[in-house]
Amino acid sequence: MAFCLSSSTSFIHPQLQPIVAKMTLFDTFLFYVIHFLDKLELWYRLPVLLGAAYLGIRRHLHQRYNQLHVGKMVGKEYDNGEIWYRTPDGKCNHPNDDLIGSQGTFFGRNMPPSTSGFGLLEPHPMVVASKLLARKRFIDNGKQFNMIACSWIQFMIHDWVDHLEDTEQVEIRAAEEIGSGCPLKSFKFFKTKKVSTSLPHIKTGCLNTRTPWWDGSVLYGNDNEGMRRVRTFKDGKLKISGDMLLEHDEQGIPISGDVRNCWAGFSLLQALFVKEHNAVCDMLKAHHPDIDDEKLYRHARLVTSAVIAKVHTIDWTVELLKTDTLLVGMRINWYGLLGKRFKDMFGPIFGPILSGLVGLKKPRDHGIPYSLTEEFVSVYRMHSLLPDKFILRDIKSRAPEDKCPPILEEIPMEEMVGKEGEKRLSKIGMEQMLVSMGHQTCGAVALWNYPSWMRNLVAHDANGEDRPDPVDMAALEIYRDRERGVARYNEFRRNLLTVPITKWEDLTDEEEVVEALREVYGDDVEKLDLLVGLHAEKKIKGFAISETAFYIFLLIASRRLEADRFFTTDFNSETYTEEGLKWVNTTETLKDVIDRHFPDMARKWMRCSGAFSVWDSMPTLPNYEKEEQALKVVAKPKGPRRGKGKWKIHITKQTRIKQLTLMRHGGCSCAASGVPVLPMRRGRVGCGAAVRLRWRARIGGSTQEGPCAALSSFCSNF
Ligand code: HEM
Repeated sequence: MAFCLSSSTSFIHPQLQPIVAKMTLFDTFLFYVIHFLDKLELWYRLPVLLGAAYLGIRRHLHQRYNQLHVGKMVGKEYDNGEIWYRTPDGKCNHPNDDLIGSQGTFFGRNMPPSTSGFGLLEPHPMVVASKLLARKRFIDNGKQFNMIACSWIQFMIHDWVDHLEDTEQVEIRAAEEIGSGCPLKSFKFFKTKKVSTSLPHIKTGCLNTRTPWWDGSVLYGNDNEGMRRVRTFKDGKLKISGDMLLEHDEQGIPISGDVRNCWAGFSLLQALFVKEHNAVCDMLKAHHPDIDDEKLYRHARLVTSAVIAKVHTIDWTVELLKTDTLLVGMRINWYGLLGKRFKDMFGPIFGPILSGLVGLKKPRDHGIPYSLTEEFVSVYRMHSLLPDKFILRDIKSRAPEDKCPPILEEIPMEEMVGKEGEKRLSKIGMEQMLVSMGHQTCGAVALWNYPSWMRNLVAHDANGEDRPDPVDMAALEIYRDRERGVARYNEFRRNLLTVPITKWEDLTDEEEVVEALREVYGDDVEKLDLLVGLHAEKKIKGFAISETAFYIFLLIASRRLEADRFFTTDFNSETYTEEGLKWVNTTETLKDVIDRHFPDMARKWMRCSGAFSVWDSMPTLPNYEKEEQALKVVAKPKGPRRGKGKWKIHITKQTRIKQLTLMRHGGCSCAASGVPVLPMRRGRVGCGAAVRLRWRARIGGSTQEGPCAALSSFCSNF
């Protein structure tokens, strides 16, 4: 027994032992499993289902040990049946407390406020910004993530969170050593408002001015006044201008649910989803001509919010975390392990793992009332996604083969922000803007990639008006996390049950980074700011963000669905209407939404499979379903290798493939091309040195494309 105890304590990282000591026996056992895999850096290399099991265990532990409610429960019971819709200020969603998750409630926490005791200026935020964050040259995200993906996450942030500010201002002055390297020598901003919680363990907290539910408040506003501003009060619809973009008031501020710190790409997504909302209204009206404006609005809001949540869950997130395990994990969240077809046929009958979180019989908050958290806001500080210039494409001049329209203009990003950005957008128009965003990669979440123009940014008031004093956003973000008591990187990792670092080399292999960290923080790894650590951390292959940030997502992405009664108890045809529910169930991706409103756009301009990848990149297989995952197209030449020739096409584990077509691609000089049809085993194709071959197939009801690796490499050998 003594041996057991001492070997178990030496197995657990010493800094994690105090946390583990508080766990139940069962949870300690689960912790051992994930800790073992963490030490070997193994979980993301495991086969998909084992990887998903690891994430399931981790999520369970975070649900038990990483949720703290801030503030008291002061709401009252209400009649769930009477309030069957999403209210303007987020009230009446929790089954028996009308205030949980409403506008103006406390941010929760995933861990206690920092106990590190470092000062607000230790080290100076502008030193951190200049030496570790400021962009040296633009580091992009490759083909994985485009500007639609970048705008999408801002669109979501503005649905979920914003801290209430105090009326008192703070001024930060540049430290002497870096004064010349800072665009602003000093800057002023409002403190975050701290409010007493009347609780002994967390004495003060901050308030969320947006509704934290996934309720589309970015379109519909966060209170009654916001809601009234955006509605037409006719047929349930929202206001939209004749050119399909947002309407503007006399000051040039867009009329939308949220207008703060907006830029053209963000307001374009708002406009796209206003169109979606209005299309839902049209559809419902066609089926139920007698429904009044109010009911149409309420049903359409439910449907549109669910479409947004679904796109985020099974489309955006899987692009952000592009691994098979996450693809499966996110689909399990929505559809469950048994998959979409089973859920469509039999409904959500088997509980969260087999049938997904959406449609659960009751909302689940694991004993802690729903809110979004301080730590959640901090890990979403991803301004380095933003580039320096917006690349506008010329969609009138067609580039038939490569689908990438030529560049028309490179516009400095600061000209795309606020009112000026709105003017630019109305000249550009929705279609050109969307296609341009689709073709531009966004920035990588990495050190030395914080947009320079944001270090001298005119921020907005809540009503979208410019503030008089520009801010250095990079320095401000460092300050904000410290001001709000968010744990620094190493404390954060410990609290999240992950192995902390003991030296800079544990964080990164890059010598240059280690040197810069040492220059700013000395050898004290405890001082490392969360934002810097998240940007410096070695990334898992396919992940656009750090693993540490991901663990917060893992917990909260599920919570946003499972704690919300409109995604659980009330995700049904009585609340959404039969047609509304069908609308949600048949919309899978942002591409589906784009196809609905711009039927030709994807065909003309999108080569990739999802709207969040760079549009002229190669498509990837939708490998979320087992049999589709197993699809392999291998081709071998039969006959002459030059010019016309016969190719034997071999498809392994073919299932549900209606048609397979080999397509020529690139500048081919041979005349022949093959279009073999069902069930295809042989194809006749032309081949020459410049030929790249691709396949196209009907899979699961939609057309997919992909490169044919074996053929491509073969051809390049000629
Ligand atoms: C042109 C685009 C953008 C502009 C002008 C902008 C500007 C700002 C400003 C001024 C703040 C408030 C700073 C403060 O006083 O604390 C802020 C907060 C924030 N932004 Fe952005 N932002 C943009 C895009 C993005 C994107 C793409 C993300 C990606 C996730 C993002 C995430 C956040 C987060 C998480 C906060 C903290 C919110 C809070 O304190 O509650 N923003 N942004």
